[in-house]
Amino acid sequence: MKSNTERCDKVPREAPLERRAAGSWISADSAVRPRHPVDSAWREHAAFASWIMAAHRPSLVVELGTHNGFSYFVFCDAVVRLGLDARTYAVDTWEGDVHAGFYGEDVFAAVKQVNDAEYGSFSTLLRMTFDEALSRIQDGSVDLLHLDGRHRYEDVRHDFESWLPKLSSRGVVLFHDIAERREDFGVWRYWEELSDRWPSFAFEHGHGLGVLGVGDAGLSPQMAEFFSAADHDGDVIRSTYAALGAREESDLLRESELRHAAERDRRRIETLEKEKAALEGALESARRDVVDVEAALDATYASTSWKVTRPLRALGSAVRRG
Ligand SMILES: C[S@@+](CC[C@H](N)C(=O)[O-])C[C@H]1O[C@@H](n2cnc3c(N)ncnc32)[C@H](O)[C@@H]1O
Repeated sequence: MKSNTERCDKVPREAPLERRAAGSWISADSAVRPRHPVDSAWREHAAFASWIMAAHRPSLVVELGTHNGFSYFVFCDAVVRLGLDARTYAVDTWEGDVHAGFYGEDVFAAVKQVNDAEYGSFSTLLRMTFDEALSRIQDGSVDLLHLDGRHRYEDVRHDFESWLPKLSSRGVVLFHDIAERREDFGVWRYWEELSDRWPSFAFEHGHGLGVLGVGDAGLSPQMAEFFSAADHDGDVIRSTYAALGAREESDLLRESELRHAAERDRRRIETLEKEKAALEGALESARRDVVDVEAALDATYASTSWKVTRPLRALGSAVRRG
């Protein structure tokens, strides 16, 4: 198999080791936490996604397959955090598919709410098929394309081939699920065919993420350095991002458990407060009953008939005493 450096003659000559080690594949961006930790099989790639946005600085990002928006919001967050002059597009029917499962309208509504509130100035949700969206994006314009639709061999091949003309001269494509071999998943097979034709790098964790540099004018210096570092330090890059991904996944799980526990506690407090209010109501009504009974007794003692019958009651007491 050819190395990345051999495959891309436009990759600049290898950077010195100290430069490669510092920032050619990891930076402070790799530690940024996702702001929208929605449910997703993509969560372990947030660290690399944040890094590549900072290193590659794309002007146009397109995602094919957005679902709850996890990966897309990581890209959008980076645009805001880094102050990029970028546009982003998320393409999805928001109906689901055989691999992601089919889902209801609430999913699109939730994604739209976040998008409109936080990213509306640069981000567009294209609710349509990937093929329909082709006419909405100019040829040669996309700097970063993320493919995450249906995962059969024919699907991913169709998506890549139909969108390839949209890639800019420094375009990079991310393929999710290249390590997933269950059922009819076939991204891994297509990745094997592609990864030898362009500079490429494969992450194995989180179902696998393939990084492919397809720009016909070569790579940006940052991506060239990344692919060059990958030739030498591939295992370190893989294990570092796998560890970052595992940490992120476990942090997100712990946070989600804490959120659920807090929600359970909130509901329990709500129930207890309702019970307390009901008991206070019952106590208040009992107090009112006592006041009423006391008032009735006072009225009885004060009544004329009570006074008139007093000798009779006294006589009755004397008889009882014998
Ligand atoms: C695996 S999910 C995307 C996951 C997402 N990237 C994340 O971060 O969790 C795949 C999505 O692709 C969409 N999809 C699949 N094929 C499609 C097509 N041809 N056109 C439009 N949407 C499609 C489905 O509706 C589904 O929401």
